Amino acid sequence: MRNLRTAILISGRGSNMEALVKAAGNKDFPAEIVLVLSNRPEAEGLKFAKKAGIPTIVVDHTKFENRDEFEAAIDEHLKAAKTELVCLAGFMRVLNATFVNRWRDRILNIHPSLLPSFRGLHTHERVLETGVKFTGATVHFVRPEMDDGPIIIQAAVPVNPDDNPETLAARVLEYEHKIYPKALRLVAEGKVKVSGGRAAILSEQPSTKGFSNPST
Ligand code: GRF
Repeated sequence: MRNLRTAILISGRGSNMEALVKAAGNKDFPAEIVLVLSNRPEAEGLKFAKKAGIPTIVVDHTKFENRDEFEAAIDEHLKAAKTELVCLAGFMRVLNATFVNRWRDRILNIHPSLLPSFRGLHTHERVLETGVKFTGATVHFVRPEMDDGPIIIQAAVPVNPDDNPETLAARVLEYEHKIYPKALRLVAEGKVKVSGGRAAILSEQPSTKGFSNPST
């Protein structure tokens, strides 16, 4: 089967992009990374992408009059690369409904919480303030509302009493790097069916084990 042509949008460090690029480097992976696009010229992640031989492009949002023009430029680059799927990976610009609807069910995002809890920024700080015992990470299809859309895969990660935002972020990030490639694989294999607000995974073994924190 042909590989799904996938573009990744970043704004910074790009560790999730790196995880996707590494996964796509495996011979049997059903997606190929055809473009890494950053809205920030100084994004750390661009270096890795270039080294990996992936075409990179900067579309600097500060150089555009308004969001529509910025997004039109992104759209053109995506089309020029014959992009079939877009993965947002720490892309820190809100995309407007026109763009999101044009790519409906063809944009994924990763968020470092168990959505729909803790949408938005400063996730780990808010998780710690709230005192929940589990947090996690979510890969979902993008809808016009921020951090909204059919959920493809989630990882649950324990919150420990001595955590601070940095230790928690690091624990969650480890799982982000596992679930984003897995989500991309499932989508590229055509195993994810969206209906209404939900994404169903075809042919996955159901999980039956729960776990508690503190453990029982
Ligand atoms: C990740 O925690 C991701 O979930 C969030 O932004 C962070 C980006 O990190 N959307 P990186 O650039 O992928 O390293």
